[in-house]
Amino acid sequence: MTAQPATQVLEAKAGAAVGTVAQQAARIVAAGGLVAFPTETVYGLGADATSGAAVARLYDAKGRPAFNPLIAHVADIAAARALARFDDAAEKLVAAFWPGPLTLVLPRLAHCPVAELATAGLDTIAVRVPSHSIARAILVAFGRPVVAPSANRSGHVSPTTAQHVLADLRGRIELIVDGGGTPMGVESTIIACLERPVLLRPGALERADIERLVRLAEEPRAAPRADSDELPMTPGALASHYAPRARLRLDARRVEPGEALLAFGPLPAEGAARAAAVLNLSPRGDLLEAAANLFSHLRTLDASGARTIAVMPVPRTGLGEAINDRLERAAAPRG
Ligand code: TXA
Ligand code: MG
Repeated sequence: MTAQPATQVLEAKAGAAVGTVAQQAARIVAAGGLVAFPTETVYGLGADATSGAAVARLYDAKGRPAFNPLIAHVADIAAARALARFDDAAEKLVAAFWPGPLTLVLPRLAHCPVAELATAGLDTIAVRVPSHSIARAILVAFGRPVVAPSANRSGHVSPTTAQHVLADLRGRIELIVDGGGTPMGVESTIIACLERPVLLRPGALERADIERLVRLAEEPRAAPRADSDELPMTPGALASHYAPRARLRLDARRVEPGEALLAFGPLPAEGAARAAAVLNLSPRGDLLEAAANLFSHLRTLDASGARTIAVMPVPRTGLGEAINDRLERAAAPRG
């Protein structure tokens, strides 16, 4: 179903090559493609953050069994202000540490252009301004936010060379920009600045440097799964999953009176004509398209006021696994 691109590797180690390679990378990203590039921490796998379709391809290439929210990378603080709200602590931190290996989780602005799939439907967004010259050149050339998780297959360790990226993602992405080894080799430090600053992930920026400026609270959380490079998503309010107000009824083959319908595929559900509202994740049954529409369709149906959203079955192959994971979380009873 997914086209298998031939993965091109372009060197951008000498200063002169960076400009032209960055232009080419930006063109591929603008066309919905996937480009791995070095940052000061680890290699990232970049996609157009404003395109749900490009973000769906990115999850597919990484083989993520669940939609973890992604970091939006931008060229400067001004661009970050268009995405998220900065409180006093956030202002202090970015004045001191951006550009650099610090990611902030902040309240997402209403008009933030980043695709809902990229933030997994959350009201918060992770934002980072990297300092690496190649990452910066690509962000400047593209001119919009780029989501970039570490450029490894899900469950593998983060890559610090172009060879690591190639070993994991050859044939799954369009381009790898080879800028040599990444200077720091561990991921960015992640701090949530929501009510109070909370350390979500220790990383390349040291805690002591941060605590000179702001007091950090620790988010109590379960240990990450040993086979995973992702932050655990369950405990705490910070990374809690998107939950609609309406009840979700999964694997629905018929619509009961008063229900809204989240359809999938070309075949109508029984009783669809009486649904309070209907949206189709993908009329042609395409899982990438369904992923791109998932959170925005759920929100729209939730806003229709129906008390229950009937969800038609979605196959569990490919990205369908992550789609079903999210639907099951959204359907779980809440306290
Ligand atoms: O150094 C880095 O941060 C690298 C380079 C490429 O920038 N990127 C990176 O991305 O490590 P990734 O996706 O591998 O890790 C980002 C982590 C994930 O564990 C994700 O769950 C968490 O950040 N995250 C993203 N948005 C979040 C949010 N709104 N709330 C809580 N956690 C979030
Ligand atoms: Mg990662």
